[in-house]
Amino acid sequence: MAILSALWSWLPHALLFSLCVFFVFFLGYCLYIRHLHLKYDHIPGPPRKSFLFGHSAYLVEVMKKDGVVHDLFLEWAETYGPVYRLNVLHYVIIGVYCPEATKEILMSPKYPKDKFLYKRLFNLFGQRFLGNGLVTAQNHELWYKQRRIMDPAFSSLYLRGLTGTFNERAEKLMERLSEEADNNTVANMLHLVNCVALDIIAKVAFGVDLDLLKYSSPFPKAIETCLKGMCYYVRDTTFEYKPQNWPFIREVREASRLLRSTGAQWINERKTAIQNGENVPKDILTQIIKSAGQEEVMTKEDEEFMLDNFVTFFIAGQETTANQLAFCIMELGRHPDILERVKKEVDEVIGVKTEISYDDLGNLTYLSQVLKETLRIYPTAPGTSRDLLEDMVIDGHHIPGGVTCMFSSYASGRLEKFFKDPLKFDPDRFHPDAPKPYYCYYPFALGPRSCLGQNFAQLEAKLVMAKLIQRFDFTLVPGQSFDIKDTGTLRPKSGVLCKIQHRHTS
Ligand code: HEM
Ligand SMILES: *[C@@H]1O[C@H](CO)[C@@H](O)[C@H](O)[C@H]1NC(C)=O
Ligand SMILES: *[C@@H]1O[C@H](CO)[C@@H](O)[C@H](O)[C@H]1NC(C)=O
Repeated sequence: MAILSALWSWLPHALLFSLCVFFVFFLGYCLYIRHLHLKYDHIPGPPRKSFLFGHSAYLVEVMKKDGVVHDLFLEWAETYGPVYRLNVLHYVIIGVYCPEATKEILMSPKYPKDKFLYKRLFNLFGQRFLGNGLVTAQNHELWYKQRRIMDPAFSSLYLRGLTGTFNERAEKLMERLSEEADNNTVANMLHLVNCVALDIIAKVAFGVDLDLLKYSSPFPKAIETCLKGMCYYVRDTTFEYKPQNWPFIREVREASRLLRSTGAQWINERKTAIQNGENVPKDILTQIIKSAGQEEVMTKEDEEFMLDNFVTFFIAGQETTANQLAFCIMELGRHPDILERVKKEVDEVIGVKTEISYDDLGNLTYLSQVLKETLRIYPTAPGTSRDLLEDMVIDGHHIPGGVTCMFSSYASGRLEKFFKDPLKFDPDRFHPDAPKPYYCYYPFALGPRSCLGQNFAQLEAKLVMAKLIQRFDFTLVPGQSFDIKDTGTLRPKSGVLCKIQHRHTS
């Protein structure tokens, strides 16, 4: 009894004490933030919306309105110039639209990918997601080792050998479009190219036939859920603490788990095949298994590491390419004159043959320009960021080390100072004789951490576009928006609804 009452009398003191400790810590944290404000406020930038959360309310607002956050980055670049500052908690982020600084930072291995963002992609709401895979690996050694092992699966020699598979998968899309034309139905092009891109990556990277245009699969939905989750997790620091979001967060975790368990299954099947001495392709899956260490017994971490890369390639290898295709179809639908020029080129280079060769693709120069211009206005992976550990002077502003530099290919591609009349879709900007954009166009990022799959993606995009244009006429269903949906990556909001007609009614 005496003990209990002693406890009772002690409890309020304990509570008061912890409250005080908390308060002191909080005060300390606030002072630290104040110190950071004083240190960096000489750099121009939009007014902070709150002391603690800084500019994050702007981003949340845009997301609530289903807008594109990069439009905000663009607006700020126009208002505050090539270097501007944002604060979120104790993070300081610098938007950079200065070609010299972009070159210095992106081209050098000295500036690691930023800790905050890429750590959040390691674990999605507590469920391991991209982990230490190629996109998210921060440690230079760990990244470099993987990249070297992966390189052969992206060499031009290897890609040349894949042209047959690309053709075969794209042909399935043509069959489906042919049906849509016969039935005179409205085709959701975003959905269809998504299926084809997922089909291609599953086949080419992992040796698996999905045939998504015929069979349904949980993967497209799972990928979409993960991307959406990623977007909230990265941009809204308070998202996971709000109970109304918990059901969605559970869905995201499940989606990530589904992708990883699929990876585990496919990797095991491949390993068994290797052990049985079967002749396995030297594809991305084989390289993933190689990169996880050659020891007899794999540690749990080795296993997880393979799954990191499995998910990385599954996602990086599909979404962005599909969205580029959809945007390209959308812009061609809006510009019949440009479409006519592409058609003429495709007819000249390819004619009516079904199997398009690697060399044919090299001859489709105007189509290449169209695809490049598509990524200028619609960079489907719209940005990247790097940590700046040491002091630097950018565009005359002294930037003390300890900040994150953010590069938005979207904002850069839409700045008048880099591209005249920026919203005009004009593939001649990328004419072989036109001056090359100087560090202001980077849809695949630049330097050592640039996209490994760039040639793969453009081979795929060109081949699918060439076949589509060779066989069909398409027109956009009137009344749809040309807006962009921002889920971290960018895609056309409308889905790009088209009416399809056969071109050669033979
Ligand atoms: C139009 C299609 C694509 C676009 C616009 C694109 C864009 C990008 C961008 C901007 C990055 C840098 C990401 C960052 O800084 O965080 C990147 C990295 C990467 N991409 Fe792509 N990508 C595309 C297609 C692909 C494909 C098809 C693959 C694989 C089959 C792929 C694999 C990768 C990998 C592995 C990395 C990480 C490279 C490294 O850090 O070493 N990408 N991509
Ligand atoms: C086209 O119509 C046929 C017959 O009604 C149907 O079986 C098929 O699924 C339809 N295809 C598409 C793509 O709408
Ligand atoms: C395509 O390019 C090759 C050389 O790379 C050339 O021999 C061929 O004539 C070209 N074809 C067309 C139609 O331009």
